[in-house]
Amino acid sequence: MADVRLDVLTIFPEYFAPLEVSLLGRARSAGLIDVHVHDLREFTTDRHRTVDDTPYGGGAGMVMKPEPWGAALDRLHDELTGSARRRPRLVVPSPAGRPFRQPDAVELSTAESLTFVCGRYEGIDQRVIDEAQHAWQVDELSLGDYVLNGGEVAALAMIEAVARLLPGVLGNVDSLSEESHNDGLLEYPVYTKPAVWRMRSVPEVLQSGHHQRIARWRRDQALQRTASVRPDLLRRYSPASCDDHDLALLETLGWYPSGRGFSDRPPAG
Ligand code: 6GU
Repeated sequence: MADVRLDVLTIFPEYFAPLEVSLLGRARSAGLIDVHVHDLREFTTDRHRTVDDTPYGGGAGMVMKPEPWGAALDRLHDELTGSARRRPRLVVPSPAGRPFRQPDAVELSTAESLTFVCGRYEGIDQRVIDEAQHAWQVDELSLGDYVLNGGEVAALAMIEAVARLLPGVLGNVDSLSEESHNDGLLEYPVYTKPAVWRMRSVPEVLQSGHHQRIARWRRDQALQRTASVRPDLLRRYSPASCDDHDLALLETLGWYPSGRGFSDRPPAG
């Protein structure tokens, strides 16, 4: 038995070919993840295998019809809950969803099954999502503030973010805790040999072998990077995760502890 079962419902099963290569491909071969990609058109009943129709109320584009989704989700639900388990989880990638972040990936990685429904066109008839709430634990999640042509690429990204957290999928477990977003900060810059390349030297401290100084330098870099590139992350970063040196550095950058995060407005008084 695989550790986790992943189902994908899509009109473009070919989009999921990448799941067969690299880390995820190996995890599948090793039986750590059990991936099933289903063609939504298999659940249509008309000769033309129609999955879309014009929107009620008018407007541009097409909307995905509810019937094929209902049939597909009913079938899958039966299959997933055969041996009386909890409500299976349904992930609906959508630009109208809440942002998908690392804590969501961590949380989804604890599920025994995940089903992804990939909408196309202007989206899926809302009644499909509304009705699914009864039998599934539904999460509508967005990759970011831009528009893709459908949920496929978003589902792929989410699957990769989740699968690499599963025990045994990643070779080096240490690299998980050290990477960007895991503690709410961006990652520090990394270097490898040669020590000088095109007249650019690797920072001296990293060649010093002085582990404490290296750790301090990396921490400073992560804080500086986050402050300059992602101030939104710093606003939500807990001052409780900071030592005195962190707080002093952030103050030189114009950031002050404020409630459960940081503010770039100096405290009054
Ligand atoms: Cl999850 N789907 C689509 N179609 N577009 C998106 C997205 C998802 N996240 C950002 N843009």
